Amino acid sequence: MKTIETISGMSTFSKTAKKEGKSIGLVPTMGALHEGHLSLVRAAKKENDIVVMSVFVNPIQFGPSEDLDKYPRDFKRDGEMARAAGVDAVFHPSASQMYPEGFSTYVNVEGLTDTLCGASRPGHFRGVTTVVMKLFAIVKPDAAYFGQKDAQQAIVVKKMAEDLNLDIDVRILPVVREKDGLAMSSRNAYLSTDERKDSAVLYQALRKAEDLMRQGETDPAKVVKAMEGMIKAKQNARIDYIAVVDPKNLRDAKTVSGDALVALAVFIGKTRLIDNVIVTIGS
Ligand code: PAJ
Repeated sequence: MKTIETISGMSTFSKTAKKEGKSIGLVPTMGALHEGHLSLVRAAKKENDIVVMSVFVNPIQFGPSEDLDKYPRDFKRDGEMARAAGVDAVFHPSASQMYPEGFSTYVNVEGLTDTLCGASRPGHFRGVTTVVMKLFAIVKPDAAYFGQKDAQQAIVVKKMAEDLNLDIDVRILPVVREKDGLAMSSRNAYLSTDERKDSAVLYQALRKAEDLMRQGETDPAKVVKAMEGMIKAKQNARIDYIAVVDPKNLRDAKTVSGDALVALAVFIGKTRLIDNVIVTIGS
């Protein structure tokens, strides 16, 4: 496995692979790798000749009061995990290379980014789409792999690829969970033992929503209320948002029918966790 730390090095690697007629699958990450990330690598390996993983804690997608400084960074461990998973090249650039002085061009997907996480984290998705666009330009992948865990991010990146005619297949893979249902996340490492126990309520509430909807509940407000009750019963939990939306436009669903995205963000202590399920009602 190659570790590539410069943009020019990454670009040369990709050009050489392309000349040899090889397809490239890209897995963008911020490191602190876990099974969720590795599931993306496995999918990319199945569908491409070469797999590139980027490991870059992207400063422009963090708000001023967020966890940029304490975000877990252990490149040695990440490199070993990537190698074991069969990644061909890890792209690990510095922030000053990605954003040199005078950097002033941003990609912004409008509409889809002002709700849910976009409402609580202004500027977050602009940071995500800008770095993903740069990674696409540098790595030149045929396909790129993202997790359903970050449902809004997946939808926003797909829209960017479509609107900008990127000719990159944006693939979305299912949420990988711990035994008790908690979605794997690099941020789970922040949780104390007590908080870790309480955090299982996120998925329990999502399952409850799914049950209610399958039993015929069509009023999103009633679904949200039931979830709120469960989450508020946990001492360490504070709800940021709970929403039942149309996965196509992320607007609030007026009634439950067809596909519904049930999404939530909950602070467990100081740690903000997100999760979601898509529920399909009817045929
Ligand atoms: P990061 O949080 O490291 O996640 C990298 C990729 O792994 C994302 O596509 C995310 O949705 C996916 N992922 C994380 N946890 C997962 C889980 N439990 N199951 C399945 N997939 C999971 O998301 C980012 O980084 C950044 O915003 C990035 C896209 C790299 C841009 O900086």
